[in-house]
Amino acid sequence: MYSKFQNIETPFYYYDTALLEATLKAIRDEIKPYPHFHVHYAIKANANPRLLSIIQQAGFGVDCVSGGEIQVAINAHFPTNSIVYAGVGKSDKEIIIGLRNNIFCFNVESIPELEVINQLAVKENTIANVCLRINPDVSPHTHANIITGMAENKFGISMADMEKVIWLANSLPNIHFKGLHFHIGSQITNMGDFQLLCDRINRIQDWLDSHAIRAEIINVGGGLGIDYQNPQVNTIPNFKDYFQTYAQYLHLRPHQSLHFELGRSIVAQCGTLITRVLYIKQGTYKQFAIVDAGMTDLIRPALYHAHHKIENISSTAKTYELYDVVGPVCESSDVFDINIQLPTTQRGDLLAIHSIGAYGEVMASSYNCRQLPQSLTDKDF
Ligand code: LLP
Repeated sequence: MYSKFQNIETPFYYYDTALLEATLKAIRDEIKPYPHFHVHYAIKANANPRLLSIIQQAGFGVDCVSGGEIQVAINAHFPTNSIVYAGVGKSDKEIIIGLRNNIFCFNVESIPELEVINQLAVKENTIANVCLRINPDVSPHTHANIITGMAENKFGISMADMEKVIWLANSLPNIHFKGLHFHIGSQITNMGDFQLLCDRINRIQDWLDSHAIRAEIINVGGGLGIDYQNPQVNTIPNFKDYFQTYAQYLHLRPHQSLHFELGRSIVAQCGTLITRVLYIKQGTYKQFAIVDAGMTDLIRPALYHAHHKIENISSTAKTYELYDVVGPVCESSDVFDINIQLPTTQRGDLLAIHSIGAYGEVMASSYNCRQLPQSLTDKDF
């Protein structure tokens, strides 16, 4: 397969759609025993139209965080009644896009936002379906930049305000209160973190019961992590453990449906960034492999100190050397990884940077006036 990459302009994103299909099937198989479980794909992870079309055809709903994402989801033919929409700063224009398309649910993150949605719904002569995003103050074990569910984070409504906001939601004429939404963070691999969220929701549910408040929907967000160290071994995340954790520890009421917003775990492993080595440079203390992809094409290492497995896919060398793999962008943080062992590498070799299907292409920029890479799939070869 990789020999076919030799004559293609680099860098480019390569997507294995067969793996994406297998991943979607694994999810469908695991939730089959739970007909009240619904998965909304978090489109922020990757909005490539070819991937969206596969995810849409597999029958998944969609989770959006902007009016632009709602528009992209509609263009990809996701049913509007499968769209959930979160975000701390929804503009009037974005709220109107949601209202006019009669989306499944706004995940509302503050009291003023709830009031604005009501006012706009009155103007539009419609009813807005609303879940309240509660900040459960649960700390997952992941990078600080991708934790969302702690009290100091900007997301959601504090537990202390929850009662007030539910009463307000029920009193506003053009708001239909549907339930509660949570999302504690991303790249979570310890099921105990999701179990803690379940415990917190169980206590909230007891409180709802004692106040005779009916929630039809519980949405637990996304966050399931993937194996960045062994992407070729653990190609499909452990969805069984993930869904079983919720089935076992979350005590739903008989009329309730449970919603998930999975992004990374669906698309991360099917994407690879293919880049060519421009130069091998001997520094004072280091040997650099300077490649033609940069932080503009994959910002995760610079932004979160993320490690993506890097493989030399064209070398046949039997000897190994240490390299810092760096990009061409004029920033010291334009480094993919340091001190990694690769077969002796030379100008022209192709490197594969793995697990970039989530938050890779979608976070690309044209800083340094760089051209955005093209994307290809297994279907193109
Ligand atoms: N739902 C909400 C409300 C979210 O904020 C997110 C991700 C998701 C669902 C999907 O989470 P996932 O299943 O993908 O973990 N750019 C960062 C990740 C940012 C995640 C933002 N929110 C990264 O590259 O690691």
